[in-house]
Amino acid sequence: MSVGRFREEVIAGLSLQQKALPSKYFYDARGSALFQAICRLPEYYPTRAELSLTRAHLAGITRFARRGCTLIEYGSGESLKSRLLIRSLRPSAYGPVDISADALRGACARLAREFPWLRLAPVTGDFSRPLEIPGIEGPGRRVVYFPGSTIGNLTPEEALAFLRMTRGQVGPNGAMLVGVDLKKDAKVLHAAYNDARGLTAAFNLNLLARINRELGGNFDLRRFRHYAFYNAALGRIEMHLVSLARQQVKVGRHRFGFEPGESIHTENSCKYSVAEFRALAARAGFRGERVWTDRPGRFALHGLVAA
Ligand code: SAH
Ligand code: AVI
Repeated sequence: MSVGRFREEVIAGLSLQQKALPSKYFYDARGSALFQAICRLPEYYPTRAELSLTRAHLAGITRFARRGCTLIEYGSGESLKSRLLIRSLRPSAYGPVDISADALRGACARLAREFPWLRLAPVTGDFSRPLEIPGIEGPGRRVVYFPGSTIGNLTPEEALAFLRMTRGQVGPNGAMLVGVDLKKDAKVLHAAYNDARGLTAAFNLNLLARINRELGGNFDLRRFRHYAFYNAALGRIEMHLVSLARQQVKVGRHRFGFEPGESIHTENSCKYSVAEFRALAARAGFRGERVWTDRPGRFALHGLVAA
């Protein structure tokens, strides 16, 4: 990810009436480490829920995706859940794609040790644009894996564009496995994004520290606070950074004014019922063939096939 593009998107986002920053920029080395720690928090149920449903339904998931497939994973991070699939599917190639070079490097080193027979085709890049994945070609069915409900960090329009891109990528015999966080009690959601240890707050604020470091910003992190709430009308958690004072902030040669209480919208985390997500996937040319959920019904893994 080039610094030029990062700067352009930050300046454009802070110039909007409702200031906003793209959530993909959370994931520098510290942001990726914080996210990995969030995944292990008691309040942050999605990782445990998806791991447990993947373990419980691994045989069915393997029958669906088919052994010997070629597996592309978007937003692979530490490739935690992927290891379960790799062991069971024995893909002819695995192409993890992530914007975070640090996370990808760590994951690939571990995968190479654990699965010496596996052909790795990693790509550091931004999946909001079509990407080439050199080395992923293989004889088996092409399957795109997108776990973690990272699809929820896209707006429904962006998610549709992304699914249309992957529909083209998997071709007429291909399939997709998408992990999607389900709608649920707002209290459970609130706790997951406002953890007691403050790791989610640190993850959110780290975006300002990254802008200071990489783009010559002068955000005072003590003058912003983490704010996350469930927007029931839009079915999404919204994360914001709220200014605690009237202040001016500089990013390179650009200046931005903040009123007390004014926020920067940093992330959406959209939640979908099974029917809502299937309807979205259908608009992209996928048919929902299978869906697996964990026992308490917190999280769904959708098995989609090209329609
Ligand atoms: N799949 C893992 C990680 C989810 S966190 C899991 O289920 O636990 C989201 C991951 O997506 C991070 O590793 C982040 O670096 C990556 N990511 C976010 N936006 C991205 C983008 N636009 N392009 C590529 N990777 C992105
Ligand atoms: C990666 N993504 C699905 C996480 C989520 O739950 O939306 C990122 C995150 N934001 C706050 N906590 C975790």
